[in-house]
Amino acid sequence: MNPFVYHNPTQLIFGRGQLSMLKEKAEQLGQTVLLVYGGGSIKRSGLYEKVVSLLQEAGCRVLELSGVEPNPRLSTVKKGIELCRQEGVNWILAVGGGSVIDAAKAVAVGVPYEGDVWDFYTRKALATEALPLGTILTLAATGSEMNRGSVVTNWDTKEKHGASTTFPAFSILDPENTFSVPRDQTIYGISDIMSHVFEQYFTHTPEVPLQTRFAESILKTVVENADRVLANPDDYDARANILYCGTMALNGTLPVGVETDWATHSIEHAVSAVYDIPHGGGLAIIFPKWMRYVYRENVARFVRFAVEVWNVDPSGKTDDEVALEGIAATEAFFARIGAPTRLADYEIDDQHLQLMAEKATPFGPIGSFKKLSSEDVAQILRMSL
Ligand code: NZQ
Ligand code: ZN
Repeated sequence: MNPFVYHNPTQLIFGRGQLSMLKEKAEQLGQTVLLVYGGGSIKRSGLYEKVVSLLQEAGCRVLELSGVEPNPRLSTVKKGIELCRQEGVNWILAVGGGSVIDAAKAVAVGVPYEGDVWDFYTRKALATEALPLGTILTLAATGSEMNRGSVVTNWDTKEKHGASTTFPAFSILDPENTFSVPRDQTIYGISDIMSHVFEQYFTHTPEVPLQTRFAESILKTVVENADRVLANPDDYDARANILYCGTMALNGTLPVGVETDWATHSIEHAVSAVYDIPHGGGLAIIFPKWMRYVYRENVARFVRFAVEVWNVDPSGKTDDEVALEGIAATEAFFARIGAPTRLADYEIDDQHLQLMAEKATPFGPIGSFKKLSSEDVAQILRMSL
């Protein structure tokens, strides 16, 4: 196991009725709040009204940044930064999915920074200061509610990058707020959560049994609850389990002491920078192809994955056969729940394949399980067509 420091300051407020905690939090955080949300799902579900009335009860002046896009755009973030500066905003409340939270994080670190907030995403600067941020999550997927990552797209240059920004001070997760998530977004969320685990599970670091078992538990819990939630979107316990898995998959628990990969996320970000496809949809397509491309680097890890996660019976089979059965089981699972399986499902052909391969590797080779050059990425994309 490698040396590590583990620190996560986000207060996780989880369960039915926990929205009522917002008033107390708002009273602590200051008078003027920027409420950040997306294209209107929170208005349709009635959550918007509840949030605004709790903020008003707490004596807050509420300003709004609405219309944050899925795959949030730099131009929207910049609007939010301007508004905060003009109006002397004290803190930010994001209500929505990962895109809304990521945009809010970008605003939070952009306000005190004198340069261009995009500097954080192009590794020209490191965010050290931020306005306080709270979140109310409405979609189980990214883990952004309990990490400091933020992913933003610069639509002018067609670049999508992640940056280390700021942890939310608190995040309120009521599974009931995810009942209204449409079927396709629920599937993308499941694929994103599982992909976060894959990125941290496929490692060469030896002797990390606890991290390994944590990861397998998350995968098994997601798989067990996926059919339930798709059959009955209002199943509280199934939604709760998937929601908690989403947070635990990317809140810093899994990567401690372990070398992680993240190449597939870079590849997917390059695809959605060019084609603006849903993140989880892209991952469901690309991840199994990445697995096939790299599994020989550590067949034993893939054998364990097949046996522990997918219950593959290894008797009488070679390691290669078992490993490949595990990958096939992953593909079959994604296909069964209705995730896309090929880039062609999004009408993506090989036209911009080289461009995407270069965009996935802007700072050099990516990944650690197998270091991937832009040529390797092009191969994986070709397998995904
Ligand atoms: O915009 P609204 O109207 O709110 O609708 C959203 C959006 O259309 C809708 N939605 C959200 N909650 C809903 C709902 N619809 C009905 N009922 C609800 N309760 O779902 C759509 C997608 O929302 P979005 O926030 O884009 O989805 P997600 O949470 O999957 O976030 C994706 C973004 O996060 C980034 C991705 O790259 C992508 O840009 N990621 C962020 C990470 C992080 N910060 O740690 C890590 C991830 O790997 C990922 O890269
Ligand atoms: Zn992701």
